[in-house]
Parts: sequence; C-alpha cells; structure tokens
Amino acid sequence: MIQKIALKDFKVFHNQTFELTPGTTSIVGPNGSGKTSILEAIEFALFRQITRKEKTIKGVEELIRHGRKKATIELEFVAPKNRRLYRVVRMINPQRTSADLYLEKRTEPIESGAKRVDTEIISLLGMDRHAFAALTYVRQGEIDLLSRLSPKDRQENLYDMMGLGVYSKTESKVQKALREMKREIESIDESRARLTEIQDRLPTENEVDNAFTSLDALRAGVGNEDGIKPLETLLMKVKESVAKVQEELASSDLTDKKDELEEDTNIANHLKQLLSSIPGVAEEQLRPHIRHEARAIFLRIFGDRYSDFMIDDGYDVALYNLHGNRVSLRAASGGEDVCVNFALRVAVNTALQKYSIAGSPPGVIILDEPGAGLDAQRRRWLPEAVQGLDSVEQVIVVTHMEELKESADRVISLTPQGKGRQPLVDVSE
Ligand SMILES: Nc1ncnc2c1ncn2[C@@H]1O[C@H](COP(=O)(O)OP(=O)(O)OP(=O)(O)O)[C@@H](O)[C@H]1O
Ligand SMILES: [Mg+2]
Repeated sequence: MIQKIALKDFKVFHNQTFELTPGTTSIVGPNGSGKTSILEAIEFALFRQITRKEKTIKGVEELIRHGRKKATIELEFVAPKNRRLYRVVRMINPQRTSADLYLEKRTEPIESGAKRVDTEIISLLGMDRHAFAALTYVRQGEIDLLSRLSPKDRQENLYDMMGLGVYSKTESKVQKALREMKREIESIDESRARLTEIQDRLPTENEVDNAFTSLDALRAGVGNEDGIKPLETLLMKVKESVAKVQEELASSDLTDKKDELEEDTNIANHLKQLLSSIPGVAEEQLRPHIRHEARAIFLRIFGDRYSDFMIDDGYDVALYNLHGNRVSLRAASGGEDVCVNFALRVAVNTALQKYSIAGSPPGVIILDEPGAGLDAQRRRWLPEAVQGLDSVEQVIVVTHMEELKESADRVISLTPQGKGRQPLVDVSE
C-alpha cells in the first residue's frame, strides 16, 4: 500500500506531497494536469523506470521539470512481504540517479545506491516491474493489453502477475550457465587432446634417459667435451619439454576442474528441470480460481449479452453470446475488451489473495482511465466494480468519469495554473 508521495521538480510538480489512504482514491483533473505523472512517479520510485505507450522512457531528464537540474521523488509504502513501512528517496539527475531506502522513520538508510535499492524493493514487493505492470498498474490506454497479446504472451503476462515469471527468468539464467560450463568442458577436452598429441610426438622419459646414457658413453669414448656440449644442451631441453607436458596433463586444471564442472552441470540440469515445472504446478492450483472469478465478474457486467466466458488451458479467452455462439476476443467490442481485461486482472488479484502460493499480492491496484471505451451503461457498472475490489486494500484510479469520482473514498483534484506553474491540488473525502 502507498502512504505518501512527495515530488520536487518532477514534471509539472514543483513541490507537492500526496498522502494516500486505504480504500479508493480518485485522481481527477483536465488533460495535462499531471494525473498520470503521479502514477509515473510511483513507478519510478519503485523500479527506476517508466513505461509510456508500451515503451520505456529512455532519458530520465524528461522527468525533470523544465528549466531544473534535478528532481526528487520520495515514496512511502507498506511492503506486502512484512507489512512494515519503507521510504524510498530517488534523486533524478541527467548523469546519475541516486537512491536511498529507509525503514520506517529512521534517518539512516538501510540500502543505498540505485541498483541495490532496486533489488531490495523487488524483494520487498515480491514482484519486478513486469509483474507490477501486469498485476498492479494498468497504464493509460493499456487496459485492453491482455486481449491484444497472443495466448502465449498472455500466459507469460499472467505468470508475471502470479509472481511466477521469476522462475522462467531464473531458468534462462541456469541455461546460460549450462552453456558456459559446456564450453569450458569442451576447452578442457581440447587442451588435453592437444597435449596428448604433443606427448605422442615427443620421446618418452625412458628414451631420453637412454639418450643421456649414450651421450655419457660417447663422452668417455671421444673425449671431446666441446663437441658433446651442444648435444647435451639439446637433450636437456627435450627432457624439460617431456616433463612439462606430463605435468600439464596431470594438472588439476585438466582433471579435478573437469570433474567439478561435470558435477555442476548435473546439478544445474536438475535445477533447470525443477524451475521449469514449478510455474505449471503453481498455476494449475490457481487457474480454476482465476477462471471462476473472471467468469463471475464478466457475467455480472455483460450478463445481458453473454452467457459464458471461458479461459482455456492455453489462455485463449472466448465469449459465448446468449445464443451459445462463440465470440473470439478479436471479434469482441472495445468495451467488452476492457471488461475482459478488468475481469482477468481482478480475478488474478483475488485468486492470489485467497490462494496465494507465490507470496502476498501487493494490495494496490492502480488504474489510469479504466473507463475509456465504455458506453454509458457499462460506465455505471465501473464504480461498483472498482468498489467491489475487496481483495485489494488500496485502489488508485485516474478518471474523467463523474461516476467514479462520486464513489471514491477520497478525491484528489488537480487544477492547472497556467504556464510553468504547478497544478492546484485539492483533496476531498
Ligand atoms: N519535464 C517536464 N516539465 C514540465 N512539464 C512537463 C514535463 N514533462 C511533461 N510535462 C507536462 O506534464 C503534463 C502532465 O502530463 P500527464 O500525462 O501527467 O497528464 P494527465 O493529467 O494524465 O493528462 P490526460 O488526462 O491527458 O491523460 C503534460 O501537459 C506535459 O506537457
Ligand atoms: Mg494521463
């Protein structure tokens, strides 16, 4: 849950603090008044990244208020992992973004530095930015994102929502390590083959010893030390080479190292198998609940037009009209799309809350203009649906809809003040 957002020189905001409470908060105001910017500040505070129109904003300088050198975002949130209050402070500089994470009201950070803070927050929330985008933050214009995806991508997205994406990401890391170990084993095998080939071409130790004996005999017979010396030097070099090749062949780099690598490969293979089976098992437990919830929500809204809503095992979604005809998602209307997506997200949230396997859900849902594309009749349903999100502790909804304003527990209104000035913020309960 989010308790407080304090912004300094972040986009349109010069210096503005928003206090948030459990329940529903509506953020209202005309176009360009800074509504989405507040949500982006939340995303940036948590993940040091902002996605707009499905693209990550590359330059952080876009976030700094025009004419200023740096921006600061401070965010207080309750971590789902341990229900404790944390405060993250990020300073955005064009060159470098710094970050500090504090526990409760302490003044010494528990973690400092952008990367370290990122990692700690992901662990506290139990989700990364993909999971956040899939489960928690429905961006403006993306409410129908799930229906636009192929079933495979939709499944991946839902896995992310369930916090299961981490397994496939870990699995690809293990796969990478496996490839590296394979390469190392191959290079050890190559070195060994090369050394053996050299050894085959060199005389054996015995042969070298015999040559030395012959040399001694020669020295005794000829008595010409100067003539024999070069032969002796040559033989010494051959002896050294023979010893060196033997030593390298017996070295632990070629023997123990390979054994170790082979053992690691075995372990990694087991791990990979395990990682690939976990999401399926976890998802199988959740799937019936998700289907049940999503169907109930969808039919509550579209029961006058549809008789059924099905999600198959491959995550293809189909609607059935009152005559029993199948309507694929592609053929559904924009408004129906919005509801399918709303139903799916809420269903996953509820299922996670009730039957959580992968950890507690974040307890927040953020919706930016969820009513876009809904007709007057369905719009009436939306406030009820948002209020009915009893599985979610906090709902933050950006809207132009009067209906949503009225049903909220608190309304934050932004009124633009003209060029260069920050919007006037009014809060009513
Ligand atoms: N770096 C910046 N400094 C100052 N203002 C900025 C900066 N970047 C963007 N803006 C302005 O911030 C305004 C707020 O945008 P935002 O997306 O938050 O509006 P919104 O209230 O969500 O509007 P809509 O209802 O149209 O979605 C825009 O008008 C934009 O021009
Ligand atoms: Mg907006």
